[in-house]
Amino acid sequence: MSQRTKIKALLQSGQTGFETTVKGWVRTFRNNQFIALNDGSTNNNLQIVVDFENTDPALLKRLTTGAAISVTGQVVASLGKGQKVEVKAASIEILGDSDPEKFPLQPKKHSLEFLREIAHLRFRTNTFGAVFRVRNTLAFAVHQFFQERGFVYLNTPIITASDAEGAGETFHVTNFDLNNIPKTAEGEVDYKEDFFGKATNLTVSGQLEGELGAMALSDIYTFGPTFRAENSNTTRHLAEFWMIEPEMAFYDLEDNANLAEELLKYVIKEALEKNAEDLEFLAQRLAEEEKQKPQQERSEMTLLEKLKFCLDNDFERLTYTEAIDILKNSSQNKKKKFNYLIESWGADLQSEHERYLVEKHFKKPVILTDYPAEIKAFYMRQNEPDAEGRKTVRAMDILFPGIGEMVGGSQREERLDKLEQRMDEMGIPKEELDWYLDTRRFGTCPHAGFGLGFERLVQFVTGMGNIRDVIPFPRFPKNAEF
Ligand code: 4AD
Ligand code: MG
Repeated sequence: MSQRTKIKALLQSGQTGFETTVKGWVRTFRNNQFIALNDGSTNNNLQIVVDFENTDPALLKRLTTGAAISVTGQVVASLGKGQKVEVKAASIEILGDSDPEKFPLQPKKHSLEFLREIAHLRFRTNTFGAVFRVRNTLAFAVHQFFQERGFVYLNTPIITASDAEGAGETFHVTNFDLNNIPKTAEGEVDYKEDFFGKATNLTVSGQLEGELGAMALSDIYTFGPTFRAENSNTTRHLAEFWMIEPEMAFYDLEDNANLAEELLKYVIKEALEKNAEDLEFLAQRLAEEEKQKPQQERSEMTLLEKLKFCLDNDFERLTYTEAIDILKNSSQNKKKKFNYLIESWGADLQSEHERYLVEKHFKKPVILTDYPAEIKAFYMRQNEPDAEGRKTVRAMDILFPGIGEMVGGSQREERLDKLEQRMDEMGIPKEELDWYLDTRRFGTCPHAGFGLGFERLVQFVTGMGNIRDVIPFPRFPKNAEF
């Protein structure tokens, strides 16, 4: 294979007067003369000038949208608008034809819904090229952030016997012949006969195993796929999503919140620096989308302004109880505009309440802490009941404009007696989590952690409205294509 230059490097350097080879896919071929070539390194196409008078007409016919080609020629200054250089083709080789009658992507704007149906080809559009390059930057930046701080990257199991969140939204894993499932004498599924000798499922979170790591390595993080069989027919839920879960020994809730805010700002800054062009493109896309909306629903800030605003301002921090007071006194509540009114302490916040807090009231990311114990997981550290006897836990959710919950975390309950008592109250089987309780039996210590939903982060940074458009192959109810 001959060496080839990536289009991004060629366009960025702007150098001329040398011969090079470029390879990519034809986006358009105009006037039998100009090929717009894209190789995925950037959304900017390279213009290839074809000497059509001296080129085989049969080859010209094969320069159709989607075809893969290799071009060798001189890099020269371009007279075209918005491009410094172009390539004067000396030789063109067709590597792979693309039948224009059958190729579903045409050089025009396709709807995101249509592109979702051809997710295997949507990488070849400007929008998805930009989204997945930004996603790549964010993933790398996550590792860089933790590596710079001495965290250990720990892989937690995908197949597990525990339901870390206790929410019962797991996908079962079995190698039973589904037509012939062994049953016990009592008629129940006999998991002893299954591959692992017990009931197993895909992980919903690596947290519990992450805690084991933190209790020896001090600071760890996971970054892996997680699975939830919840009814995820929304623009914010996937059945398979990636989660970043740091867990830190000797951290309290404030340390935890500081780390999360620092992480979010760090990765957004990296994307702004490394993907300036892609984010400009996505901002433009979003601005056009916004124009379709009624005036009052349009965002006040552009995508880039929103990202920069997020970097330049402290996240708002308040407790659940303080947030409820704000909601109770809000005009939305008084005008009965909320679907259900916030009158009583203890209810979980609905997304409309979260949106009100971040988008209307504070207009920036918000870290909400100290939720009622009743609506949170068993492992969160219990606060002393307040003057009115209300029980809260050291939970923390980070809410983002346009997204809602981006991060969920807590300081963990490190006191064995308190933890066991809470598990009993919530009906969590202690025998099955005996290994987890060992961390509290041997050298327990204050510790904390959180889970950052990676796709929700990519959504915020790219401004994409639907979470199904920020993961290459989305999994959601009744959809497991490809
Ligand atoms: O709030 P969650 O359920 O928290 C946990 O799983 C904790 N064990 C994390 C920890 O403390 N280590 O999930 C964490 C984040 C959410 O804030 C959200 O961003 C994302 O994961 N998330 C989803 N993202 C896409 N699709 C879904 N179905 C999601 N469910 C949660
Ligand atoms: Mg949560």
